[in-house]
Amino acid sequence: MPYAHITGWGMAVPEGVLTNDDLAKIVDTNDAWIRERTGIRERHIAKENEFPSTLGVEAAFKALKVANVRPTEIDLIICTTSSPEYLFPATACLIQDQLGATKAGAFDLLAACTGFIYALNMAAQAIRSGSIKTALVVGSETLSRFIDWKDRGTCILFGDGAGAFVLQASDQPGGVLSAVMHSDGSGGDSLSIPAGGSRQPATESTVHANKHYIQMDGKEVFRFATRVMASATQEALDAAGLTVDQIKWIIPHQANIRIIDAAARGLKLPMERFIVNIDRYGNTSTASIPIAMVEAIEKGQIKPGDKLVLVGFGAGLTWGALTAEWTGPIPSKGHIRPEQYRLFGRLRSFVRRAIRFIEGLLYRREL
Ligand code: ACO
Repeated sequence: MPYAHITGWGMAVPEGVLTNDDLAKIVDTNDAWIRERTGIRERHIAKENEFPSTLGVEAAFKALKVANVRPTEIDLIICTTSSPEYLFPATACLIQDQLGATKAGAFDLLAACTGFIYALNMAAQAIRSGSIKTALVVGSETLSRFIDWKDRGTCILFGDGAGAFVLQASDQPGGVLSAVMHSDGSGGDSLSIPAGGSRQPATESTVHANKHYIQMDGKEVFRFATRVMASATQEALDAAGLTVDQIKWIIPHQANIRIIDAAARGLKLPMERFIVNIDRYGNTSTASIPIAMVEAIEKGQIKPGDKLVLVGFGAGLTWGALTAEWTGPIPSKGHIRPEQYRLFGRLRSFVRRAIRFIEGLLYRREL
């Protein structure tokens, strides 16, 4: 049975930064409160022309470059996002088109902030089963578009960004070792965007009632998160036959520094064993774990051979954890230049649209 190694990684965040002081000009809050209660100093916010697909493509090209994999070699793209560009088509298909990933299947996975763990596990299982060789997993968000900028309980928390991993099959042991995934839909109403789906399609009254924005019972989510972070980590460790002492780094979903602190206490580990960057990005939902990991790899904190736990929670309610042995890129001949594929992807997309237009004309004439 092949192993599923993480061989490429990349991240992208919008240039625009919103500080706590900026927020204090919009709502009744202040820098000291936000830092103390959440650990957040600033977050990146997307411009009008930035979307989950554009940020995701940026992160994906970086990951493909590290892995030395061409877009045309990808078998499967899973995009996990809590802020999809459309109900359909899937954001994964927009990413597939912009990358020029001609042979890839592509779909979105919605498990809110736990999404990256679910998606990594799904991609790893597809590789382990032998049905595919190369997968791209993207976590990408512009949740700022679903924030009520008058609600100080939520607008201080979220930021935009994307992270991407390339997974490849290899006979060498390592890569993704175990994963656990959990859900409890009975807690779905504690964190939701109530309208815009088929239950409450957009109407004048849903817009007036602010139902297209994130609604959250912060205390309830906080209690739930502190309960599940340590237990999910322990379950994933048990499934891999590992002990917590064998783990070099824990990479938690970056939602609130106090939740990460509670997980550390639950596992009886010092905070130094946790990768934390919430201060500069806030909660980027599905992108928070890969963004934290990419930064840690680039700083040289995560090294080949290190054993890791990724752990998260989110709306649904969902939670889960995954253990992995870090690989790094698989050495291969030659180097690809993703920049060339950016142009190729655009050109290919244009040609495909033109062909479809001509086919449409011919088909109509035949009828
Ligand atoms: N600035 C200043 N004061 C504030 C703010 C603010 N931004 N927000 C709330 N307060 C006030 C409240 O009004 C309250 O005042 P009161 O005592 O006079 O009534 C006081 O501060 C305490 O409020 P709490 O809600 O008890 O604050 P808490 O310490 O619980 O922190 C927070 C709130 C940060 C939202 C916290 O509950 C939390 O992080 N919850 C988890 C949220 C989360 O992780 N969500 C993402 C899940 S992932 C996903 O799927 C998208």
